[in-house]
Amino acid sequence: MAQLWKGRFKKELAEETNDFNSSIAFDSRMFEEDIKGSIAHATMLGTSGIIEKSESEKITAELEKILQDIKSGALAIDRNAEDIHTFIEGELTKRLGQTGKRLHTARSRNDQVALDIRLTLRKEIIAIADKVKKLIGVLCDKAEEYADAIMPGYTHLQRAQPITFAHHIMAYAAMLCRDLDRLSDVKRRMNVCPLGSCALAGTTYPTDRNQVAELLGFDGITLNSLDGVSDRDFCIELASALSIIMVHLSRFSEEIIMWCSWEFKFVELDDAFSTGSSIMPQKKNPDIAELVRGKSGRVFGDLTTLLTVMKGIALAYNKDMQEDKEAIFDAVDTVKVCLTAFTPMIETMTVLTENMRNAAAKGFINATDCADWLVGKGLPFRDAYKATGELVALCIDRNLTLETLPIDEYKKVCDLFDDGIYDAINLEKCVAGRLSEGGPGRESLAVQLAAARKKIAENH
Ligand code: ARG
Repeated sequence: MAQLWKGRFKKELAEETNDFNSSIAFDSRMFEEDIKGSIAHATMLGTSGIIEKSESEKITAELEKILQDIKSGALAIDRNAEDIHTFIEGELTKRLGQTGKRLHTARSRNDQVALDIRLTLRKEIIAIADKVKKLIGVLCDKAEEYADAIMPGYTHLQRAQPITFAHHIMAYAAMLCRDLDRLSDVKRRMNVCPLGSCALAGTTYPTDRNQVAELLGFDGITLNSLDGVSDRDFCIELASALSIIMVHLSRFSEEIIMWCSWEFKFVELDDAFSTGSSIMPQKKNPDIAELVRGKSGRVFGDLTTLLTVMKGIALAYNKDMQEDKEAIFDAVDTVKVCLTAFTPMIETMTVLTENMRNAAAKGFINATDCADWLVGKGLPFRDAYKATGELVALCIDRNLTLETLPIDEYKKVCDLFDDGIYDAINLEKCVAGRLSEGGPGRESLAVQLAAARKKIAENH
């Protein structure tokens, strides 16, 4: 296909460099945004008197037809075109002749591509936010269902203190709520229209940039034409927000993988979200969670790509920037497929509350509560801590738990002990007694659930 910039050249681009130079393989997904942008631009050219109104109307009507034809499959995107902008403009000119050639007045592919990416990513952010909201909703439902399911909380992957399964998964809901905030923040900053920056230095035509911005649903326009065409901060910001989402999904996946092991057996994944082994008949593997954990690396790589592409280029547009699309689209697509697979996996998994309760009964996770009980009897915390440590050592020696250690033994270590200690170290009581804000108690769970549900009801 002929290049748009042919005029000053005597030769076609070498065959070896045509594909190398072309971005059609990865920018054709922006065809709708490219056409919508062109419709807004042509409308503005007409109302500003830069081209005849009648021609502007012909252009917008034909662009609508091109859009429908691509959508219906009647028009195939030419894989030999240099990029989607060239293809659409070429097709318009094929259909309208001279009139089609007027579309590119007061515009450059530099501001056009900056516009198209913004429009595309704005749409993708909404799609991703919807998927994040769905996952938060599933977590809230599960938390309600398992509000009283005692499990050991961990630090250093060592059993530490008693919590509930609800509290544990609401920690992920909290992370995902921040992800929603980050996504809407990126969208807000990105939602300014670069069209009208033209190649780099604006234009001498009497354009109305605000009209175009309004037609395309932007909150305003970019204020510096050099920045307008060469800014990809929004790609970097989005890749960063997406990387953080992947950190969260990857940590969650890691826990699911551990919880599925015989060593934990806290959850069992539905058959529809697990796979078997080709040789070991007994195996049921958490492949979906492993893939999500593995795919996090791709998204971090995409962020690194974008940072590296941008860090050394002089103002304004440079062709290096064509590399932005594969990276940011890969990050977008990866997060979308991960969320699509992850959410129903969580929704359908069976929570093995008895195993969690049994695990909580071992590991002395009520030792802090024992020490706190002594503090309640007037002992300074450090002494209470030491006495409890001695009791734990005693239990380990005799293969007992704090619940089964006889009261005489307690008394030998500290004479403040009485039968009341057994009630204080009861795991259900330990959890219920953690009334501090943000803790695993019932009231805190209600606050967390209300906040998360409110967040997913908001517009992002
Ligand atoms: N395909 C190009 C890109 O994705 C469009 C902009 C081309 N501009 C230029 N001056 N070559 O960045």
